[in-house]
Amino acid sequence: MTEPPLLDIRDLHLSMTSFDGEAHVLAGVNLSVRRNEVWGVVGETGCGKSLTGLSISRLVPSPPARYLGGEILFDGRDLLSLDEAGMRNLRGHRIGMIFQDPTTNLNPAFRIGEQLVDVALAADRRNPDILGVAARAGWRTRRRAARDVAVRTLAEVGITDAAERIDAYPHEFSGGMRQRVLIAMALIGRPDLLIADEPTTALDVSVQSQILALLAGMVRDHAMGVILITHNLGVVAKACSHVAVMYAGVIVESGPVAALLRKPSHPYTRALMASIPTSGVRRGELKGLPGQVPNLIKPPRGCRFAPRCAQAAEACRAGPPQPVDLGGGHMAACLKPGPAAEAA
Ligand SMILES: Nc1ncnc2c1ncn2[C@@H]1O[C@H](COP(=O)(O)OP(=O)(O)O)[C@@H](O)[C@H]1O
Ligand SMILES: [Mg+2]
Repeated sequence: MTEPPLLDIRDLHLSMTSFDGEAHVLAGVNLSVRRNEVWGVVGETGCGKSLTGLSISRLVPSPPARYLGGEILFDGRDLLSLDEAGMRNLRGHRIGMIFQDPTTNLNPAFRIGEQLVDVALAADRRNPDILGVAARAGWRTRRRAARDVAVRTLAEVGITDAAERIDAYPHEFSGGMRQRVLIAMALIGRPDLLIADEPTTALDVSVQSQILALLAGMVRDHAMGVILITHNLGVVAKACSHVAVMYAGVIVESGPVAALLRKPSHPYTRALMASIPTSGVRRGELKGLPGQVPNLIKPPRGCRFAPRCAQAAEACRAGPPQPVDLGGGHMAACLKPGPAAEAA
């Protein structure tokens, strides 16, 4: 029997209440991640990529958020049923996160080393293998061990002279270096699952390549499962084994990268792929398509992409299309998946 997935998101529904009303921002998300898989999650801005990642870490502020249904099984346990203490036991230790928000960013007031040491000490309380010192060891010994682990992790993410640079403040590092530090911070607790939200978006292309190579090495060495949120299909092609395409809170197409990029089968995926520049500095970046993501306070009743879809038929507006297996785990939630219909 094959091992159950590390992460299994089943029919996740989330709403966000704002001034204008309650928006159904995740509408039945399904996503399974196994060890050694790197899942790219792509889609235009506002499609629910970050909220999916934040839901797994249970960092969506609630209110305004409300989970309307579904499960987020991690190692078979539903994260939606855990309390904050239970989640704190997992975050940073079994679930590593790199988010573009203050909760997982570097604090400018503290030296990089202090921040890494804190994370290592906290992770060691759950897994004493991390520091490799006896649980009863004194504070000084534990701290020294934590610092050693921090230096080693910084070196692992490609920071040279880590033993000296560990005492720098974040502002003394370039953007690319700070991103490496954030990755080190996410990895120091040796997570089984890493969620990285646009970890390379702010970086130039060569640094981006280095960071992606680094992530690939980490997946190999630690048999992690990874969710890599990005709006760059070039990044997906380079760094991911699998991809999930999101539109308006729904995963409209998913599967192994090679199959999906070779045979994009949902009209939204095809439109996205047609919209990306294939050369120049913005290579691979999604640009957004003509038209707008629908208002999710009153979403379309059927396929959420139907209002922008050239192929939409009456049946597409009747109810949400169920995912169809196109073979080999390649799924598309479309009534007419496949290459664009021949022009009549
Ligand atoms: N704190 C919030 N309050 C209200 N709406 C939110 C909040 N965060 C996100 N949203 C809405 O949820 C939708 C999905 O957002 P998000 O997951 O950030 O998209 P993405 O990461 O794909 O760009 C968007 O329509 C966004 O406006
Ligand atoms: Mg986002």
